[in-house]
Amino acid sequence: MQSPALAAIAALPQADLKSIFTAYPDRLSDMVLTQGPIRFDWSKTHLTPEIFSAFLKLADEQGFGDRRDALFAGAAVNNTEGRAAEHPAERGEGAVDSVARAKMFHSRMRALIDAIEAGALGEIRHILHIGIGGSALGPDLIVDALGGDGARYDVAIVSNVDGTALERAIANFDPKATLIAVASKTFTTSETMLNAASAINWMVEAGVEDPYGQVIALTAAPDRAMEWGVDETRILPFSESVGGRYSLWSSIGFPAAMALGWDAFESLLEGAAAMDRHFRLSEPAANAPLIAAFVDQYYTRVLGCQTRALFAYDERLALLPSYLQQLEMESNGKAVKLDGSPVDGPTAPITWGGVGTDAQHAVFQLLHQGTILTPVEFIASIEPGHLLDPAHHRALLVNCFAQGAALMQGKANADDPARAYPGNRPSTTILLDDVTPEALGALIAFYEHRTFANAVLMGINPFDQFGVELGKEIAKSIEANGPSGFDPSTMALIDLALGE
Ligand code: F6P
Repeated sequence: MQSPALAAIAALPQADLKSIFTAYPDRLSDMVLTQGPIRFDWSKTHLTPEIFSAFLKLADEQGFGDRRDALFAGAAVNNTEGRAAEHPAERGEGAVDSVARAKMFHSRMRALIDAIEAGALGEIRHILHIGIGGSALGPDLIVDALGGDGARYDVAIVSNVDGTALERAIANFDPKATLIAVASKTFTTSETMLNAASAINWMVEAGVEDPYGQVIALTAAPDRAMEWGVDETRILPFSESVGGRYSLWSSIGFPAAMALGWDAFESLLEGAAAMDRHFRLSEPAANAPLIAAFVDQYYTRVLGCQTRALFAYDERLALLPSYLQQLEMESNGKAVKLDGSPVDGPTAPITWGGVGTDAQHAVFQLLHQGTILTPVEFIASIEPGHLLDPAHHRALLVNCFAQGAALMQGKANADDPARAYPGNRPSTTILLDDVTPEALGALIAFYEHRTFANAVLMGINPFDQFGVELGKEIAKSIEANGPSGFDPSTMALIDLALGE
């Protein structure tokens, strides 16, 4: 059931993108916003001035200003768990005490990094970062985007419990020169603990005398890390109020700080802080994360689009779609509102995507001619990430911009419908000056706040994730009590594959 506010937006006249720049001559200046190193272009979406105004009204009705203030004040915005969501404090924006605490943890992190670099743990050349979900996806994205060939250490980020992942990661690592970073907010996640135990065994088998001496823990549960065997001096804590999928700014970002150097890590935080200030201080009509959420809400909740696609036209950002899948789907894939009542319509769409130009030769057929309307987001950088012939980057950007234009314009073909393009298909283009630590920090913070803004517009809590618990519980009960009481299909699978 669509809420009356969304039904009213649905009743507003819809524009045809093919003529939208003629219908609204100021469209480019109205629908493009530059914030620091990022230019957001929503002009090829269906948000007309009337629809935009209706969303501004909705944001007001949903208490956007108050909820945003509560986020930055460190109030318990995660109402189901009675917790604050203080990732901005990690960047220096938030409640005074929380910012001071985050700074203290960062100083500790920096001191340990300095000590490791000075040889306190022996000659370290490889970093084996073990974590999953938010304890892996953020650092993986940062190291991959900014590390390149210039990374100061070989970094492997292992998440999957499938032993193949760990085996492949350590294949070229010298155990004596490897630092294991066990990253887990709770320090209980079964996949991480099993991978960590196997990594220790690998060191023992290779004759490392004090394997735990080469382990550090990145966690909000330092006591558990100590019980597990990590020395207190090598535990890098972070605050319980930093959610897992929002934690790359905390000690979870350790491999990024090691691989890129502390200055780059700080620049990442500064870039994010600049976006925090933009989100906190800008009026709604000029607020990038909120406007992006209007676009999301329009396609998902007004037009019923079930997915949104994101294509990074930059190899450095190849991991961005996976990172955003967790951020958006784990945050806003919900069925109840803040007060526990059922939501009025769809919540988060399925986030999917890939890199351009590869995706053009694989999935773009459906985007251009398929019957499912998919809002598309293009992300590109003006500066290339390589020193090869500039023709590469030119071709990359030309393709990116051509796709947005093609989706919008379409092309009629009176003779052959199979060769006709309907057009009127929306896209957003996010253009970075370059993929620098500052720009990436700002981009990720933009996505975090956009996810929050979507949650505010829907009246839901984006900071819990109870949906992931049931499967974990069932897996644990099979491990503890053996298979019993399951349906015939599950029993047959367990019997066949596990011999139980
Ligand atoms: O299962 C979901 C989840 O709780 C994520 O939200 C989190 O990022 C991930 O597991 C890892 O949790 P932890 O950091 O506690 O190991």
